[in-house]
Amino acid sequence: MSNQLDKIRELIELRAKARLGGGEAAIEKQHAQGKYTARERITMLFDEGSFEELDMFVEHRCTNFGMDKKKFLGDGVVTGYGTIEGRLVYIFAQDFTVIGGSLSETMAQKICKIMDLAMMMGAPVIGLNDSGGARIQEGINALAGYAEIFQRNILASGVVPQISAILGPCAGGAVYSPALTDFTIMAKGMSYMFLTGPKVVKTVTGEDVTQEQLGGAEVHAARSGVAHFATDTGEECLALIRKLLGFLPQNNLEEAPIIHTNDPIDRLEDSLNEIIPDSPNKAYDMYEVIGAIIDDGEFLEVHSSYAQNIIVGFARFNGRSVGIVANQPKTLAGVLDINASRKAARFVRFCDAFNIPLVTLVDVPGFLPGTGQEYGGVIVHGAKLLYAYGEATVPKITVTLRKSYGGAHIVMSCKQLRGDMNYAWPTAEIAVMGGKGAVEVLYAKEAKASDNPEKVLSEKEDEYTKAFANPYNAAKYGYIDDVIEPRNTRFRIIRALQQLSTKKQTNPAKKHDNLPL
Ligand code: HXC
Repeated sequence: MSNQLDKIRELIELRAKARLGGGEAAIEKQHAQGKYTARERITMLFDEGSFEELDMFVEHRCTNFGMDKKKFLGDGVVTGYGTIEGRLVYIFAQDFTVIGGSLSETMAQKICKIMDLAMMMGAPVIGLNDSGGARIQEGINALAGYAEIFQRNILASGVVPQISAILGPCAGGAVYSPALTDFTIMAKGMSYMFLTGPKVVKTVTGEDVTQEQLGGAEVHAARSGVAHFATDTGEECLALIRKLLGFLPQNNLEEAPIIHTNDPIDRLEDSLNEIIPDSPNKAYDMYEVIGAIIDDGEFLEVHSSYAQNIIVGFARFNGRSVGIVANQPKTLAGVLDINASRKAARFVRFCDAFNIPLVTLVDVPGFLPGTGQEYGGVIVHGAKLLYAYGEATVPKITVTLRKSYGGAHIVMSCKQLRGDMNYAWPTAEIAVMGGKGAVEVLYAKEAKASDNPEKVLSEKEDEYTKAFANPYNAAKYGYIDDVIEPRNTRFRIIRALQQLSTKKQTNPAKKHDNLPL
């Protein structure tokens, strides 16, 4: 056998060894917990045969606490690139089978390398997190490694899409990389995220909580909003990443891919002509409206369990990606509050950063009143959404279905926040406030002085409603560009998107803005 063939055999053996990560026993343990290994996950995520691994021979350099005898080829993360639906994507997948996927200095270098490549190539970065956090034996070098990653997350923000999947533990400062990325997806039953674990919580606050209660997928998807999506399984999480990427461009200089559809652009949806209930206090389901107007009813909702009074997500019109923001009359009457404002603001900013037009469907009675909201800073949080819409330069189409009152009218992509096409259904009510509240302010004295205050107020309310509870008052001033028949909504939105496809608008040059955080 030639010397060269021996060397090739050695390479093949080394590769096989690296592919085993922490070894068969650790892989079995991972499987026994219902989890796939890092490489199995990558295989499921990427187009078949497209993954190219980098840095398979990297080893950590730590010698503390006997670590010089505990080395694994590639260390605790698998990194590289490949394609998803034929488009280039970079990935790092933490390998829990290697020292619990704990982050070493060299692992951080591997992750930073692919992040740097992604930035240069203008391609998304996916992080699959499954790690015990900073490698304790490495001390400050592990922390420095995290900081290097965070710095890159920050610089990549708004340049290339960054998606984090949590498929195991993600604790301590490690949570900040996902938090800095655009989307965090958690798989139920196998993942958790928290800054301090149950033991520390018990010591400091006396609270008894499990990992799941403290930072499980459902907690973060429904209560904290830290997770944008929660999937039932790890496989679903990976499938969701593929689906999500399909709505996104590769970077901030490109457009999202156009996906062919057979859904006619002029499809009339008669059901929409009858969807608004006669009583203004009755709800209807905004999902029905969304499903009826978008291509093939295909809606990828973001934050579906969090702040359900507002709906945000991706859809397509005539094959083009849009971000949909819609009040949900079925939940809290579609009112805006702290969480809804934060949720929608982040989504609007993401869409704007990545050239995804915004379609806003409005039915909003106002902001939620009360001390809870005021003490929580609803003024500043509401301002985030206002700010996000006002600074956004992507095409913005607003359709007012029913209520659009007061400050919430302004916030929800009104004309003066540079809404490009603002449409209203004939059922729209665009005013400072609802009739009842308005007459109580305007006619309180008159009602008090009369023999029949209720009659006075009810007559005035009728008068007010006739005058203001319609779209024509706003249309009279050009604040509404057209009043449209509900069943035509899909066609009108598509027409508007076509018209706006060459939109160019810029904001004044500045170092950066000062969004009300
Ligand atoms: C070194 C670690 C490790 C870590 C796990 N391991 N976490 N080694 N540093 N952070 C090792 C274990 O010793 C074990 O090695 C192997 O990984 C598998 O871990 P197990 O404990 O056997 O697995 P499991 O029972 O599933 O428990 C997983 C776990 C637990 C809950 C994550 O390992 C754990 O609590 N780890 C420590 C978590 C932590 O406190 N991390 C620091 C957070 S602070 P052997 O050789 O036995 O197989 C932090 C700061 C970041 O990360 C700051 C950034 C700014």
